[in-house]
Amino acid sequence: MTPHGFFITGTDTGVGKTLVSAALLHAFASLGYRTVGMKPVAAGAEQIEGVWCNEDVLQLQAAANVAADLAWVNPYLLRVPVAPHIAADHQGVTIELPRIRDAYEHLAALADVVIVEGAGGFKVPLSATRDSADLAKYLGLPIILVVGMRLGCLNHALLTAEAIAARGLVLAGWVANRLDPEMAAYAENLAALRLRLPCPLLAEFPSTEHPDARAMSALIVPKKLATLLEER
Ligand SMILES: Nc1ncnc2c1ncn2[C@@H]1O[C@H](COP(=O)(O)OP(=O)(O)OP(=O)(O)O)[C@@H](O)[C@H]1O
Ligand SMILES: [Mg+2]
Repeated sequence: MTPHGFFITGTDTGVGKTLVSAALLHAFASLGYRTVGMKPVAAGAEQIEGVWCNEDVLQLQAAANVAADLAWVNPYLLRVPVAPHIAADHQGVTIELPRIRDAYEHLAALADVVIVEGAGGFKVPLSATRDSADLAKYLGLPIILVVGMRLGCLNHALLTAEAIAARGLVLAGWVANRLDPEMAAYAENLAALRLRLPCPLLAEFPSTEHPDARAMSALIVPKKLATLLEER
């Protein structure tokens, strides 16, 4: 089949993009597709047995069912856990979109579905002139929005949806990730987003002490995944 890619963005950093990306990899794999994850720009690394590693990259690799060269899965590994353009400056690196697209194309040649996890939120800068929205546009991928369900998420989600539309990109679906188990009026907030976001809700992820991407993947409705592939 023609490879399908999705760009995973979120209402903020730390809202569950990696969890949702890994769950999507498992969900597509359970439908029989070859899957691979990509984290084009990762900021924050630690040394494991002398090798610099990023936790998101490790999680995406663990959830994929196709092995791929790390240089394609994660073309930019930045060591300092700060905004990417600042981390890149610290390392004397300039993030360049063509290099990322080249890596994406290698991955797309290996798999049916490529799940690309953005860094931070949709408008996070990547360099003096580029941001994460430019990257999504450059790759030309439909977007899946992870909404971290907590107070303030309505504004963040709707602003993100507006920015996605302003770039002429397709918002293919969204996931409600219940970050705050105590969130007041959760159902009303969910309903407000279902009414206003111009795309289907793919899944609701509950808050759990040790979230497991494979277990969460069972919450994504297979029919909606199939629709995501049909709409391309
Ligand atoms: N539904 C949930 N229940 C409990 N903990 C969660 C849930 N979703 C995410 N978390 C936890 O919140 C933290 C952030 O999640 P995750 O790493 O997926 O976010 P992210 O958006 O990918 O962050 P980043 O911007 O750093 O890439 C992790 O420790 C994760 O285990
Ligand atoms: Mg992440």
